[in-house]
Amino acid sequence: MLIVANWKAAVASRDKALKLFSTAKRLAGNSKHDIVLATPFPYLGLFASRQLKGVELAAQDISEVTSGAETGEVIGALLRDLGVSYIIVGHSERRARGETDALIVEKVKRALANGATPILCIGERERDQDAQYLQFLRGQLTPVLQALSQKEILSLVIAYEPVYAIGKSASDAITSADLSEMVLYIRKIVSEYLPGKGSSRVKILYGGSAEPGNARGLAGGGGIDGFLVGHASVESATFTALVKALA
Ligand code: PGA
Repeated sequence: MLIVANWKAAVASRDKALKLFSTAKRLAGNSKHDIVLATPFPYLGLFASRQLKGVELAAQDISEVTSGAETGEVIGALLRDLGVSYIIVGHSERRARGETDALIVEKVKRALANGATPILCIGERERDQDAQYLQFLRGQLTPVLQALSQKEILSLVIAYEPVYAIGKSASDAITSADLSEMVLYIRKIVSEYLPGKGSSRVKILYGGSAEPGNARGLAGGGGIDGFLVGHASVESATFTALVKALA
C-alpha cells in the first residue's frame, strides 16, 4: 500500500523530524509498503540532503506560480530539485483557507509539470440524508479530471478524506462498508474521463483518523490503495503500529 504521512504543522523541531525520518526509513526497509513523508517545506530540504533509504518525499502544497517576484511562494521547480515525488493538493485545511477548485487545478498541473505525482484531496464536510455529498464530491473531482489528459489522470493519486473524520479518533472514521461504496463512486466518476480499465489503475487513498486500530479493517474492506495519515503519523510508536497493522 501507499502510506503517506501528512505531518501538517505538527512537527516543530529538527530533532523530532529526524527521529520520525529514521522511523520511516526503518519501516520502508522492513515492510512491503511504500512510505512517503509529507513534511513541512524546510524538512524536505533537510531530508533531501540525506540517504532516503526507500522513503519518498511529499510536499504538503505547491505554488501555482512558476517563478518571479512572489514572496513566500514555494515553486514546483524547487520541489523538483529536491527530489520530491508527491505533492498534496487541495487538502481540506487549505480549501478552508480559501483555495478554490480553479486554483487546485492549477496546482495539480504545476505538480505534474514538475514530475511529481499530485495527491488530490477531496471529501465532503458532512453526510446528509439526501446524498447531496455525492454531488459535492463530484464537484470537487470533475474540474481536475476535465483539465487533464488521460495520461495525466492515470498518474493522479486521489485521497478521499471526509472532513468530518479528520483529526478525530478511529471511532469517528468511516466504516469499511461506507468507504468501499465511496471508492466505487470515485472510480465511476474517474471512468467517465478514463474509459476502459484505466480507472481501476488510479490509486485511491483514505484519510481521516486512520489509526493503528482501524487501518487493517479499512484496508481490507475499503477497496483502497493506501492511506493519508495525519495525527497517527507524528508519533514514531503510533506510526510504526499503523504500518505494522497493515503487514
Ligand atoms: P488525520 O488527518 O489522520 O489526523 O485525521 C488526515 C489528513 O487530514 O490528511
